Amino acid sequence: MSLSWLASNPRARRNRPYGPAQRTIVTAEDPDALVATLDACPMHRPTPLHALPALARRLGLDSVYVKDEAQRFGFGAFKALGGVFAVGSILCRHLAGAGRPAVDFAELARGAHRDLTASMVFTTASSGNHGRSVAAGAKLFGSRCVIFLPGFTSAEKEAAIRARGAEVVRVEGDYEAAVARCRTVAAEQGWIIVSDTSWDGYSDIPRDVLRGYTVLAHEALAQFLMLAEASPPTHVFVQAGVGGLAAAVIGVLWEKLGEARPRFIVVEPQSADCWFQSNLAGRPALASGDARTVMGGLACREISPDVWPLIGLGADWFMTIPEDAVPSAMRQMARPEPPDPLIVAGPSGCTGMAALLRVTDDATARTALGLDGAARVMLINSEGASGEPAFFEQATGLTVEAAAARMTSSSQARSPG
Ligand SMILES: Cc1ncc(COP(=O)(O)O)c(C=O)c1O
Repeated sequence: MSLSWLASNPRARRNRPYGPAQRTIVTAEDPDALVATLDACPMHRPTPLHALPALARRLGLDSVYVKDEAQRFGFGAFKALGGVFAVGSILCRHLAGAGRPAVDFAELARGAHRDLTASMVFTTASSGNHGRSVAAGAKLFGSRCVIFLPGFTSAEKEAAIRARGAEVVRVEGDYEAAVARCRTVAAEQGWIIVSDTSWDGYSDIPRDVLRGYTVLAHEALAQFLMLAEASPPTHVFVQAGVGGLAAAVIGVLWEKLGEARPRFIVVEPQSADCWFQSNLAGRPALASGDARTVMGGLACREISPDVWPLIGLGADWFMTIPEDAVPSAMRQMARPEPPDPLIVAGPSGCTGMAALLRVTDDATARTALGLDGAARVMLINSEGASGEPAFFEQATGLTVEAAAARMTSSSQARSPG
């Protein structure tokens, strides 16, 4: 089945085992060690998984749940998990290579080996969130950091990166232009690139980033099983830029659940449909559009080729959403029908919701995906709205602060005692 905006994956097989080609990219290893590492950050705790029973009833589904990464670390996006973790992992390897005694993240954060960490410079290109995470990691461990931003990244996102002590270089052009500039300058200066996208000969560090994201997938599955009476989701909508988030989510759930894994629907903006086009081509391919989109975190014209063997075989469906689907999805989340909780989502965060609304509104698509009364759906709110406050206010009629205050008072009203 194929519509202009929805296509099945002809390579997907339910009985395909999670093999070595996938396991070298993402593995569902016991997350305890990862979580212990992240505990070096004092604010770290699992983000909530919200049930949306009123929406599920209206859409004729068994249940809808949203993993709310807007509440990650007080950072506001899942990207917090990747960059900080990757910077710490690189430093630990570097120290081992320099013959220094092993230390963990907490000791590094407390200043161990500062003579060496202070001499290192980390850099990346980013549409905003990943750069903020790398900046946070560099700050935590006392290193210098330089972030390359494309023209479209909001002033709020740039300010949040600078607030973490990083220098910012604005690059005229899109995300790919920022990646190219970062690579050139890093090669000249001997800086360490902490990219969330891979290229030929560069995949170890993007895999460190992915390892950090797997924490989200482990948490979400454990929470889902607890809330949904031990039944895993039947459908997971996951948004993709270069594909790191989708790879982590698909990888962990595929490895842990095998044939009982959900159907994975990879969602992209219409103009930044590099995964959609790669699925049609059967190999990594460029987006059909210019990636000019309000969904800044997803504004990529190229996939991360390293994760193609995982997403290219593991995703069941690929779909795109138009720009005008964003404000209505944001509104749906911020102004829900009671008793559903208010969720503050940014333009890239609400895309799973936009996709669910698009599919359930189309009888052919809905039937093809099997979104019926037994469907247990999981979405990921990958970011809050602090990076795009004006857009959020225009879409929802609420300021980000007013929405956050409403969220706090309604969650206090719901929690017993
Ligand atoms: C908020 C948000 N959601 C989703 C994504 C997509 O992640 P990936 O590029 O790993 O596919 C990004 C990437 O920057 C993002 O910032």
